[in-house]
Amino acid sequence: MPPTPTHGYLSHATEHAFRRWKRLFRENVDMSNTESNAAGGSLEIKDSRTGSSYTVPILPPAAEGDTVIRAMDLRPIKVKPDEFGLMTYDPAFMNTASCKSAITFIDGDKGILRYRGYPIEQLAEKASFLEVAWLLRNGELPTQPQYDDWSHQITYHTYVHENVKTFLQGFRYDAHPMSMLCSTVAAMSSFYPNAKNIQDPAERHISIVRLLAKLPTLAAFCFRHVKGLPFIYPDNDLGYVENFLSMVARMTEPKYEGNPIFVKTLEVLFILHADHEQNCSTNAVRAVGSSHVDPFSAVAAGIAALYGPLHGGANEAVLHMIKEIGDKKNIPAFIEGVKGGKGQKLMGFGHRVYKSYDPRARIVKKLADEVFKVVGVDRDLEIALELERIALSDDYFVSRKLYPNVDFYTGLIYRSMAFPTDFFTVLFAVARTAGWLAQWEEMLSDKEQKIARPRQIYTGYGERKYDASLDHAAGHPRKKDAVPK
Ligand code: CMC
Repeated sequence: MPPTPTHGYLSHATEHAFRRWKRLFRENVDMSNTESNAAGGSLEIKDSRTGSSYTVPILPPAAEGDTVIRAMDLRPIKVKPDEFGLMTYDPAFMNTASCKSAITFIDGDKGILRYRGYPIEQLAEKASFLEVAWLLRNGELPTQPQYDDWSHQITYHTYVHENVKTFLQGFRYDAHPMSMLCSTVAAMSSFYPNAKNIQDPAERHISIVRLLAKLPTLAAFCFRHVKGLPFIYPDNDLGYVENFLSMVARMTEPKYEGNPIFVKTLEVLFILHADHEQNCSTNAVRAVGSSHVDPFSAVAAGIAALYGPLHGGANEAVLHMIKEIGDKKNIPAFIEGVKGGKGQKLMGFGHRVYKSYDPRARIVKKLADEVFKVVGVDRDLEIALELERIALSDDYFVSRKLYPNVDFYTGLIYRSMAFPTDFFTVLFAVARTAGWLAQWEEMLSDKEQKIARPRQIYTGYGERKYDASLDHAAGHPRKKDAVPK
């Protein structure tokens, strides 16, 4: 039974709300909405505080069987009609779907990753990065004319405004390239003010093309700035990946020719990193984009999130960890330190979603073998292999289902290709831009989405009176008893 309010207890507005509420939720309350049907089933909830029962619809299973209830369907559960209603508490979104998405599917227990239904293994083996970028955005593989047009557009938007060079020069020689990339991508929004017309499909399209086209240029410029080398302009005769390598590595040669194994390796790594459903940075892009800011600003937010060592920064952290270990003989002590819970983690291990082998890590390990055939095996790889061997047989890691993730080997590959450690996450960002943009556009076209605005459980003070302890009369407040100098 809903609680009966005593007279005079509620204001006119809340009385009105209460009458509406009573109409809706007499006795056993059925909160079924249009999505509720027999296929989905329902949840019977009994509130022990009031004795009231509620029926909450379980939405019909989605394409791969995900089942959910709508958190909003819990809101009518309350003791008093004028209280806010029941919320769910889910720090870090451990069990909350923030959106519906048709882009990427992961089954973390089975180690499955698919973009638009295509297994990552097949895409990594056969597709090109730009083809995958098209697929993520459009849902289908491109036809030949579509692909030709798409890659033509992206190739011809690779140049950046000359002023970008000027403000890149303002960074110190040792600035972290992720800081530089984040700021320059954010700054791009000032070069393209029309990008804020996000409801216009043509503006959205050109922004997406510009971002995909210019990210490699900006990333390469950040690299060259740190090295103190002149910026190399895009070479539109080259493919996406080879052009990027050219802007990074070209010196005096009139025409850059990338090592085919390195070009292929980077193409595959870009495909593996292109999207990963609602990870931290994608969530950041969606959340910031939900305010309807332009996509350059939203992608800059994604880059900031990716920078962190628990996310994209892990590939860099793996190399630092290996350096710290220094020698195979130090591994057992290091592993004991990790297990001792002193705060050190085995970087490149574990994943929020994968509770078995990360399918990307399997592909990366194979790639690493091919690259190391060219450049030779070094001591760090030996340490990594031994770390993996020990961790995979140690009960601490096995019982927690901690397996190598994509970042465990990518750092070693990047380093063998002579990329500096702090540039690894930049490579991740270039590739993930494809996924961020597809997710951003999907979010905008989703009629159910609104500005992202989570609730909180307030744990602070109740109301209290402001009693100034500073002297405001002087203009600049200072402590009342402070003697002015
Ligand atoms: N080394 C040692 N212990 C770990 C590790 C690790 N790498 N990862 C998780 N654990 C432990 C954790 O301490 C916890 O133990 P207990 O149950 O005793 O408290 C248990 O395993 C469960 O971990 P969790 O913290 O609940 O897992 P999570 O889902 O919150 O975190 C993660 C996922 C990726 C942040 C975490 O595994 C981690 O920090 N890994 C190292 C950083 C890393 O490699 N990140 C790259 C992720 S893949 C690429 C990407 O998405 O960017």
